[in-house]
Amino acid sequence: MSKLTLVTCALPYANGPLHLGHMVENIQADIFVRFLRSMGNEVVFLCADDTHGTPIELKALEKAEPPEVFVQRFFEEHQKDFVEFDISHDMFGSTHNPENQFWSNEIYARLKQAGHIARRDIEQAFDEHANRFLPDRFVKGTCPRCKAPEQYGDVCEKCGAIYRPRELIDARSALTRKPCIWKSSEHLFFELVKFEAFLKELLSSGFVSEGIAAQLQQFFEKGLADWDISRDGPYFGFPIPGEDNKFFYVWLDAPIGYISMTDVWAKQKCPTRSAQQLWSEEADTRIIHFIGKDIVYFHCLFWPAILHVANLKLPQRVHVHGFLTVNGEKMSKTRGTFIEARKYLNHLDPNYLRFYLASLLGPGHEDLDFSLKEFRQRTNAELVNNLGNLAQRTLSLLSSPALQGKLAVADGNAEGRRMVEAALAKLPHIKQAFEAVDLRQAMKLILEIGSEANLYLTQQAPWKWVKEDVEAARAVLSETAETLFVLSGLLWPVVPKLAQKLAAQLNVEVPSFQHLLSASYPLLDRTRPLGPVSPLIARMEASVVDALVSSSKTP
Ligand code: MSP
Ligand code: ZN
Repeated sequence: MSKLTLVTCALPYANGPLHLGHMVENIQADIFVRFLRSMGNEVVFLCADDTHGTPIELKALEKAEPPEVFVQRFFEEHQKDFVEFDISHDMFGSTHNPENQFWSNEIYARLKQAGHIARRDIEQAFDEHANRFLPDRFVKGTCPRCKAPEQYGDVCEKCGAIYRPRELIDARSALTRKPCIWKSSEHLFFELVKFEAFLKELLSSGFVSEGIAAQLQQFFEKGLADWDISRDGPYFGFPIPGEDNKFFYVWLDAPIGYISMTDVWAKQKCPTRSAQQLWSEEADTRIIHFIGKDIVYFHCLFWPAILHVANLKLPQRVHVHGFLTVNGEKMSKTRGTFIEARKYLNHLDPNYLRFYLASLLGPGHEDLDFSLKEFRQRTNAELVNNLGNLAQRTLSLLSSPALQGKLAVADGNAEGRRMVEAALAKLPHIKQAFEAVDLRQAMKLILEIGSEANLYLTQQAPWKWVKEDVEAARAVLSETAETLFVLSGLLWPVVPKLAQKLAAQLNVEVPSFQHLLSASYPLLDRTRPLGPVSPLIARMEASVVDALVSSSKTP
């Protein structure tokens, strides 16, 4: 069977709505996936909700709902949001499913079999009133260094001190506000320390960018530590086979979700494939993970070491993006810049966001600033004016009564032909940029094609003399129609709906990237009439952006 590429996005927690930060990741990956498909590759794009762990369990408790019910509501919302942003997941599931339990048990059994699970007693905060162990984030007290009150059990937000919860002064349970006691319990550890050499070698072989590999050096310098993969009940997660009241830590079963989603996808959509086969060590599957810079540690240390011990396929690459800030600051509910995906959809066209984020996203993990003002200005300049007007000027005149929606035979205008051929000459560079996930560079080149076609059209100005020489005007406009055809293929990964709309006006299918790469002038069947013509996309109005911001403000 042919080589298959598995692309994944990090699994969003099922305890809150999706926001623009999640969309950065999924839009970036979706554009990459669509580009690969357009190149004729077989790609499976997977994601799921991450459902387990203490924070979710406690939020459900607060709502007096069973956690299964609580996460289901977010699952439905998330799925709908992704679909409306045109994210083309082949499967979007949940980590709370039988396949994920099967794979978690299976991988755990392999780690154990290989002799890499150790047992150790650890001391942990315990809330006697709630009768449960407390994760560090659920212990609060006074910082031992700067004496700031109400700090979490792991790090002081005032002075940045890192400590163990036991070091807090007057440590209390965040659940009941009662003082906690310290209790020992046996935990299971994955012996990560043994894989230092393996990981160092992996990280120097293109598994991540050089910048991320350099950042990971700090963990080796500090010394790796074995990884605690068990939690005591009550815990929303999978019980560990053979143990009493112990559960897999959420970060163990979450990445296993990538495998179990493959399993669900194969069962439901492609029975000739299987997760066993696609994730086996010898498979020639290519696995690419897209993640944010905050979860590099899990994906570049624990995860590859676990796959390695379990004799499973290692990812070819972990692509790390930066964090989205809004107007230069962390997203904020009080400023109305914590923009939920659903609120965005209530006010604005998803194409605006896909297009703008693509033009911001480079290949690296630097943070992206989303300035609402620049968002509107660039959208209007680049999407609406550059590309939208090119289509509008060309197609509305071509479909006017004088020209009747008919193209010219292809020999009329040498300058036009040069413009089309110059656009085709850029394709290998655009391909390279998409392959390198340098969407910013791809967009720059695509927009250059649009600008050159606009320039050509403005110089020729066929609308001025269409009455005197209708055939010469038709020849000029037919050349820009050729360029629009190329643009519809190039824009499809970025704004698929708009690309389809454009192609429909040309009365053709969106051309694939693969087709365009080997195409030569003329690309269009000049005997084919145009389809019905209408404006491609409306301008983005300041008042609508303001309305989005006000609706995102919480008092
Ligand atoms: N559940 C874990 C991931 C498990 S993967 C096996 C998680 N969930 S999350 O909902 O907090 O984040 C999901 C993804 O969204 C992560 O890759 C994270 O980096 C990304 N982002 C969350 N907020 C973001 C921004 N403000 N900007 C860009 N990406 C951000 O982590
Ligand atoms: Zn402090």
